[in-house]
Amino acid sequence: MRAALLHECGSPPAVGERPLPTPAADEILVRVTAASITPLDLLCATGTSYFGTPPTPYVPGVQGVGVRDDGVAVWFPTTAGMRPGDGSLAEYAAVRAADTVELPPDADHGLIAALGLSAVAAHMALTWRGGLQPGEGVLVLGAGGVVGQAAIQLALLEGAGRVVGAARSADGRARATQLGAAAVCDLSGDVPALAARFREAAEGPLDLVLDPLFGIPAAAALRVLRPGGRLVNLGSSAGETAPVDSATLRSGSLQILGYTNNSLTTAQRSASLGLIAGHAAAGRLTVAHETVRLDDVGAAWSRRDIRMVVTP
Ligand SMILES: NC(=O)c1ccc[n+]([C@@H]2O[C@H](COP(=O)([O-])OP(=O)(O)OC[C@H]3O[C@@H](n4cnc5c(N)ncnc54)[C@H](OP(=O)(O)O)[C@@H]3O)[C@@H](O)[C@H]2O)c1
Repeated sequence: MRAALLHECGSPPAVGERPLPTPAADEILVRVTAASITPLDLLCATGTSYFGTPPTPYVPGVQGVGVRDDGVAVWFPTTAGMRPGDGSLAEYAAVRAADTVELPPDADHGLIAALGLSAVAAHMALTWRGGLQPGEGVLVLGAGGVVGQAAIQLALLEGAGRVVGAARSADGRARATQLGAAAVCDLSGDVPALAARFREAAEGPLDLVLDPLFGIPAAAALRVLRPGGRLVNLGSSAGETAPVDSATLRSGSLQILGYTNNSLTTAQRSASLGLIAGHAAAGRLTVAHETVRLDDVGAAWSRRDIRMVVTP
């Protein structure tokens, strides 16, 4: 079969031939229809991630959408790049049957692939970890990324009150507005300046911050939380550390919570993905993405401006 092959960590994959995968006893063979390139794929492929250096060559792709031999469309995760073995960026993938999630018959495979685990992270960080309650005010940092775009829409679908988006780029802010953010902020300036901007956009104290950025934006967002408010961190795109001051944290009895998809059970992940697929099929949830053929996987690998989806 044809597959994207990562021959050397730190370099983009190239299209090549790979034997058809032989499913193990608990696996099924899926004909892949769409697979996204995510920050996790890029991290694993550097060879310097906390998962260690993957043996090469391997087929990257930690998730995808495809069709079982009975014709049913499924979403599936893989452990490519985290453990030895191949992933989704190929014509076929052998995947654990128990990990697959059946999709609605009219599902847009490219859209589900683009949303995938980024949307699961947004959903579960808001609800399961962040305890979002109806009517609460939410600030979504990194609102132009896939996690952020999904978080704006999912917060509103879960009954949030005012949802504010904050993004570094003008494109990101435009996406956030289009997807329902009541106000948007840029991320320039120091902690006090950014906190003032967040406070004005929020029109009052916030209940919950969804934070894929950390760094200065997270420190500023904490200053705008109401007493007892929560910040859920799920990434560090703006900084591995954040200049959080003790007075802010203790005076408001604030909660800083960490989140990773890896702490979900298979049942939690499947339920969240199923809900996301349902919203997407009903036209309530979308995300900016671009689709390319497998031949163009090398060029797609280095795109950072939009979620890339490969159709093998
Ligand atoms: N914990 C988990 O389980 C989990 C799951 C999924 C994702 N994540 C993490 O969450 C983060 C976002 O994921 P994603 O899928 O949304 O990625 P993405 O679609 O690639 O978006 C990344 C966003 O980060 C923003 N960004 C990058 N560097 C920045 C900086 N220095 N300051 C401010 N904004 C910056 C970019 O904003 P602009 O477009 O405005 O430039 C971009 O929109 C990643 O770090 C990812 O690893 C974690």
